[in-house]
Amino acid sequence: MRIIKSVSALRSSIKYIKTQKKNIGFVPTMGVLHEGHISLIRKSRRENDITIISIFVNPKQFGPKEDLSTYPRPEINDILLAKKEKVDIIFYPSEKEMYPTSFLTSIEVDQITKTLCGSMRPGHFQGVTTVVGKLLNIVTPDVLYVGQKDAQQVVVLKRMVADLNFPVSVKVCPIVRESDGLAMSSRNQHLTTRQRKEALVLYQSLQQARKKVSAGEQNAIVITNLIRKLIKNTSSGAIEYITCTDADSLIPLRRVKGRVMIALAVKFGRTRLIDNIIFRA
Ligand code: PAJ
Repeated sequence: MRIIKSVSALRSSIKYIKTQKKNIGFVPTMGVLHEGHISLIRKSRRENDITIISIFVNPKQFGPKEDLSTYPRPEINDILLAKKEKVDIIFYPSEKEMYPTSFLTSIEVDQITKTLCGSMRPGHFQGVTTVVGKLLNIVTPDVLYVGQKDAQQVVVLKRMVADLNFPVSVKVCPIVRESDGLAMSSRNQHLTTRQRKEALVLYQSLQQARKKVSAGEQNAIVITNLIRKLIKNTSSGAIEYITCTDADSLIPLRRVKGRVMIALAVKFGRTRLIDNIIFRA
């Protein structure tokens, strides 16, 4: 495994890989690697000759009051984990390498970045699309692997790739959960023991909602109210949003029909958790 910090060094490695006609799977991350990231790496390893991951805590996707400075950076642990998973190259750029002082450009996907998480985190998705666009231009992978955990990110990145004709296919991997159902996230480690227990209601309430839909309920407001009640009754979580949308367009649904996504964001203290389920109704 090689750890490459500069764009030019990565470019020459990739040039060589391409002369060998090998295809490249790419997994962008912000580090603090856990089983969720590893599931993406393993899928890429199964499906490609070469797997490249990036580890870069992207300042552009953090708001001024968000957790950029406290975002964990366990460099050695991440490198060891990637090595164990037989990643071929880790691209580990510095902030200066990605955003030299002359940097002025951004990529903005309209509309679908303004709802759900975008409504609470202005500028967040512009930061995500700018960095992923840049990384795609640097790595030039055949396949980009992303996780369903960040459901809106998936839809936004697919839109960007289609609109700007990035020559890459996007593959979405299912949410990896802890054995008790909590979606894995680097932010889970900030939860207190009590919050960690309370946070189980997120996935439980999504499952209850799905059951209610299977039993015939089609009114999205009834469904989101059921979730709201469960979360309020059993936890100290502050609900940011609970929504039923079309899973592909993120358009809010009044009638729960088609490929449905129920997504939520809830804050436990200063820790913001997101979760979602997708099903056919
Ligand atoms: P990060 O949060 O590190 O996540 C990297 C990738 O791992 C994303 O595609 C994310 O959806 C996926 N992932 C995280 N937790 C997961 C889980 N429990 N199950 C399945 N997949 C999971 O998402 C980002 O970084 C950044 O926004 C990034 C795309 C790297 C741009 O900076």
